[in-house]
Amino acid sequence: MEKIRCLVSAGPTREYFDPVRFISNPSSGKMGVEIAKAARGFGWETTLILGPTSLEKPEGIEVFDVVSADDMLNRALALFGECDILIMTAAVSDMRPKKKSKAKVKKESLNMAVEFEPTPDILRELSKIRKNQILVGFAAETNDVKSYARGKLASKNLDAIAANDVSKSGSGFAADLNEISLIFKDGREIDLGKDSKSRLAKKLIEILAAEFFPQAGKK
Ligand code: PMT
Repeated sequence: MEKIRCLVSAGPTREYFDPVRFISNPSSGKMGVEIAKAARGFGWETTLILGPTSLEKPEGIEVFDVVSADDMLNRALALFGECDILIMTAAVSDMRPKKKSKAKVKKESLNMAVEFEPTPDILRELSKIRKNQILVGFAAETNDVKSYARGKLASKNLDAIAANDVSKSGSGFAADLNEISLIFKDGREIDLGKDSKSRLAKKLIEILAAEFFPQAGKK
C-alpha cells in the first residue's frame, strides 16, 4: 500500500480587529506538532498547518503557516484532497471581530463594544466535501468532557474525536502534558490518560493506524 498521507492542524488562530490587536487563545501548538512528528515517525507523509506559535518547525514535515481561521480554512481546502487522514488539533478561534480597522484603534475608542461574528467551521466544511478521508477532531473541555466531545463528533460528522480534559492546571493548553480519551463514531472509547504530549501523540497515531489503515502497517 502507498504511504498514508496525513494532514495535521495545530496552534491557535488570531482574529485581528486592528493591525496590532487580536482575539485568540493560549494554544501553543505543541500537541499538534507532536502528532505531526509521531505521524511522520510512523512513516506517514505528513503536512502541518500551523497557527502562530513560537515552536521550532519539525524536521522533515512540510509546514504551512497561517494566522486566521479563514487562512486555515483556505489552506486546509487546498491540501485536503491530497490527504488520507486529517487530524485537527488546532484551537480555531470560534469568533472574530466583524470589522477590522486598517489603523490602530485609539485607546479612547477601545471601550466601544467590539461586534463579533462566527468564524467558518473548518471541520464541518471539510466533512461536506470529503471523499474517503478520515476526519479526526479534538475537543478541549473543562466539564462534561466526553459528552461535549461526543456532540462535536456527531455534529461535525467525524470518524473519531480526542476528548481533551483541560480542567486541571499543568495539562492541556500550553502545557507539556495532556489528558485525552479517543472516542470513535460507533461509540467505542479508548482512555489514553494523562501523559506527555509526545507519548500521547505516538499512542494516538498507533491507534488511528490500526483502526483506519490496518493493511498499511508501520513504514
Ligand atoms: O496547542 P497546545 O498548547 O498543545 O494545546 C493543545 C489543545 C488543548 C489546543 C488541543 O489538544 C485541543 O484540544 N484542541 C482542540 C481545541 C478546541 O477546543 O477545539 P473546539 O472544541 O473549539 O473544536 C472542536 C474541533 O473542531 C477541533 O478539532 C477544532 O480544530 C475544530 N474547529 C473548531 C472551530 C472552527 N471554527 N473550526 C474547526 O474546525
